[in-house]
Amino acid sequence: MQDSVRKAVIPAAGLGTRFLPATKSIPKEMLPLVDKPIIQYGVEEIVGSGIPEVVIVTGRGKSPMEDHFDVSFELEHVLRTRQKTELLALAEHAAHLARISYVRQKEARGLGHAVLCAKQLVGHEPFAVLLPDDVVQADEPCLKQLLNVYEQHHACVLALMEVPQDRISAYGVVAGEALGNGLYRITDLVEKPKAADAPSNLAIIGRYILTPEIFASLEQTGPGAIGEIQLTDGIRHLLRTQPVYGLRFEGTRYDAGDKLGFLQANIAFALRRPEFAGPLKEFLRGLELGA
Ligand code: G1P
Repeated sequence: MQDSVRKAVIPAAGLGTRFLPATKSIPKEMLPLVDKPIIQYGVEEIVGSGIPEVVIVTGRGKSPMEDHFDVSFELEHVLRTRQKTELLALAEHAAHLARISYVRQKEARGLGHAVLCAKQLVGHEPFAVLLPDDVVQADEPCLKQLLNVYEQHHACVLALMEVPQDRISAYGVVAGEALGNGLYRITDLVEKPKAADAPSNLAIIGRYILTPEIFASLEQTGPGAIGEIQLTDGIRHLLRTQPVYGLRFEGTRYDAGDKLGFLQANIAFALRRPEFAGPLKEFLRGLELGA
C-alpha cells in the first residue's frame, strides 16, 4: 500500500452563510487576506508541507476558484506586453502551484460527506484534509507538523487547539491521553458538544492526516450534529479499529470564515508584510480606540 501522503483534500463546497452578504455571489474561499484569496494560503501550506497533489471539493457557484488556479492567457499576455514582471509572476504563480483536481459535492450534506466525495480521486492511500477557513500562521506549516507525527505512527493525526469554554460548542472536541510534546492519543471525539458535555477544552482545527479506511467509516456514518454527516463521527468510528493521534500544533489559527476572524487575519497578515507593517501600525495607533 502507498504509505506516504501525496494528496490533500480541500473541502470548499460550503455556502458561506456566515459571511453574507459578501458570499452571495463570491465563494468565501476567494475573499482576500491582504491580496491573496483565502484558499491560496491553504494550497501554499499543502505544497509547503511537501504534498504535491490537491483535490478541491467544490459546488455550484464555485468556479472562480478554478479560474484562479488556471492560466489566464489574456491577463498574462497584457502584463507581459507591458513588462509588468512582478505582477506577471503573481498571476502565474497561482496557476503553477500544485496539481489540482476538482470534484463536485452536489448537496450540502456536511464535512464528512464532502470528504467522501473525494474517495475516487484519493484512492486507497493516506491523505491530508485542510479546511480553508482555518488559516494558520506558523514557522513550520501546520500540516507539516502533523506529517511529522504521521511519519512516526502511520495513523490518523488531527490538529488540536485549546479553546475557551464559551466557544467549545462550535468545534469537534477530543478526549485524549497526553503523550508529551503536545501529542495526544485520542480516546474519544464529539462534534459540537454542549459546553457542559465537552470532554476537554481541546478542539479539532481544520487539519487532518487520515488513513484510507476513513472512507468506509464515513459510508457507515449517518447524520450527526446539525443533521449533517460529520467527519468527527467518521473518525470516532475508526477509533474502534485503529489508533488516532492529536497534536497541539505550534502557530496561530484564524477563523477566516467568520467576520471577526477574517478582520483579525487580515490585520495579522498585513503586519507581517514589510510594505504594510509601518503605515498600518501608524493607522492603528491613530484610531481612537475606546475601552
Ligand atoms: C468543522 C469540523 C469541526 C472542527 C472545525 C474547525 O466544523 O466539523 O470538528 O472543529 O471545522 O474549524 P465547522 O467549522 O465546519 O462547523
